[in-house]
Amino acid sequence: MAIRNIRTMGDTVLNKTAKVITEMNDRTQILIDDMLETMYEAQGVGLAAPQVGILKRLVVIDVTPEGDSPIILINPEIIETSGEQTGDEGCLSVPGKVGVVTRPNYVKVKALDRNMEEVVYEGEGLLARAFCHEIDHLDGHLYVEKVEGKLYNVSDLEEE
Ligand code: NI
Repeated sequence: MAIRNIRTMGDTVLNKTAKVITEMNDRTQILIDDMLETMYEAQGVGLAAPQVGILKRLVVIDVTPEGDSPIILINPEIIETSGEQTGDEGCLSVPGKVGVVTRPNYVKVKALDRNMEEVVYEGEGLLARAFCHEIDHLDGHLYVEKVEGKLYNVSDLEEE
């Protein structure tokens, strides 16, 4: 496994639409492992393949404090949402920043796992937010487009 370089806002790869994964191979298995390692190392709760420069529809998420419950989503689709939550959101591709974004409070996602078998996940709160945020990356969207009000520096918030 290896840590990959995380692309930051301004890198045009983050604005492109990622491609559907049609078959699993060793390269993609390595990419999944590398993305998990990169996400944990950066202390993020999610990472999408375009963030490491790969335009494939692949996302890894782990919102648990223990970091022991990885979710791998290949070709994910949101199939149901409900409710609303408004709160702070950040992104490993926008380091040091945070902004308020409204998302559904419940999200149901259909995807393939690393064996290319169909899986369905339901998430509430932070997990629902992560599903929306990471799937947006696959369509070239960053949360900053959806921020209500201004983008804050994490360091400013800590000083208050
Ligand atoms: Ni992000």
